Amino acid sequence: MEIISAPQDMQARARQWRGQGLNIALVPTMGFFHRGHLSLMEYGKTQADRLVVSLFVNPAQFGPAEDLARYPRDLERDAALAREVGVDVLYTPEAAAMYPPGYQTYVSVEALSQGLCGASRPGHFTGVATVVLKLFHQVQPHTAVFGEKDYQQLQVIKRMAADLDVPVTVVGRPIVREPDGLAMSSRNAYLNPAERAAALCLYRALLAARDLVISGEKDREQILAAGSEIITSTPYTRIDYAALVDPETLEDVEAIEGEARLLLAVWINKTRLIDNTMLSESRLCCV
Ligand code: PAJ
Repeated sequence: MEIISAPQDMQARARQWRGQGLNIALVPTMGFFHRGHLSLMEYGKTQADRLVVSLFVNPAQFGPAEDLARYPRDLERDAALAREVGVDVLYTPEAAAMYPPGYQTYVSVEALSQGLCGASRPGHFTGVATVVLKLFHQVQPHTAVFGEKDYQQLQVIKRMAADLDVPVTVVGRPIVREPDGLAMSSRNAYLNPAERAAALCLYRALLAARDLVISGEKDREQILAAGSEIITSTPYTRIDYAALVDPETLEDVEAIEGEARLLLAVWINKTRLIDNTMLSESRLCCV
């Protein structure tokens, strides 16, 4: 596995591969790998001749009061894990190379970025869309792989790639969970044992909502109430949002018709966690 840090070196390697007719897959990450990241890499390997994993804790997507400085980092361990999966290039640009003095260009995906995580993290998705577009230009992937864990992010990136005619296929992959159901996240490392136990309420809320939908419930208020109740009755928690939305536009839906996405963001003391699931209108047949 090659480790490349300079954007121009990455671009040169991508150009060389493309010149040889090779297909490139990219998995963008901020590192501190867990099985969720690894599942994206394993999938990426099946989609292309060369797999690039970018590791960059992107300052542009962190708010001034957020956890940029304390975001968990372990490059040595990440490199070992990436090597095991068979990653061809681990791309680790420096912030000074990504945003040199004088930098002033940002990509803003309008409506999709505004609600949900965008409401409590102003500017976050502009930072995400900007860095991902830069990574697309540097790595020139045919396929880019993202997790459904960050569902709004996935929709923002799909929109950005379509709107700006980026010749890349953006693929979303399922959420990987701990054995008890907690969605894997680098930020789980912030949780103490009591908070870790409380964090399970997100998954339990999704399951409760899903059960309700399976039993025939379609109404937004009922579904959100079932999920919220589980969270509010758990210690250390504060709901940032619980939303039932159209899977593509992310606009609120009043009832489930076909498919809807249930999205949660919950503070567990000082750690903000997100999770989501697809809910499909129950088609209980009565033959
Ligand atoms: P990061 O949080 O490191 O996540 C990198 C990728 O892993 C994202 O596509 C995310 O959705 C996916 N992922 C995280 N947890 C997952 C899980 N439990 N199951 C499946 N996939 C999971 O998301 C970012 O970094 C950044 O915003 C980035 C896109 C790299 C831009 O800076």
